[in-house]
Amino acid sequence: MMKAFTRAFVMGVVLVAASTPLAAKTAEDISKERSVVMKKMDSAMNEISQRVGGLFAFDKKVIREKAEQIREAAARISTVFPEGSASSQTLPVIWSEPEEFENKIQKNIAKVDKLLSELESADKDKVKNLYKGIHFACTGCHSSFRK
Ligand code: HEC
Repeated sequence: MMKAFTRAFVMGVVLVAASTPLAAKTAEDISKERSVVMKKMDSAMNEISQRVGGLFAFDKKVIREKAEQIREAAARISTVFPEGSASSQTLPVIWSEPEEFENKIQKNIAKVDKLLSELESADKDKVKNLYKGIHFACTGCHSSFRK
């Protein structure tokens, strides 16, 4: 009996923890999540850059793995900029022009998908260009939406 109660109690705690609504997160929590997402993409971009730039061997397996990490993080961008989560590095246009912001998110995703779908048959120069396409999608958003 006691055991069942304990189990039910623990389950309850787990459920409450798992269903904490987004609104319960502070702007600081969100800002940290955002930072994780962006830094993950940044480090994966560096790994790709080193493999198309000659520092390391041109290894498509690693490039694909890194591109997949970027793809995963890129899909999370839209979830880490809820209203009321402005930081010292965000511009208010993120929330006053949400369609524009969403366009930049989709553009980034499209460029990563392009690299993923063309990687297999692409030579090094082509992969370098596909990489640059992603890079410009990053800076394209930063120049309009980041301080
Ligand atoms: C849709 C817009 C958008 C796209 C696309 C985007 N970023 Fe960002 N990024 C931002 C904004 C806005 C910030 C500032 C967020 C903050 O500090 O609150 C930021 C911050 C960053 C930071 C600083 C993180 C920190 O905490 O120091 C890095 C690094 C970064 N982005 C890398 C990238 C890379 C690499 C890509 C592309 C693969 C990318 N971003 C794509 C909007 C974007």
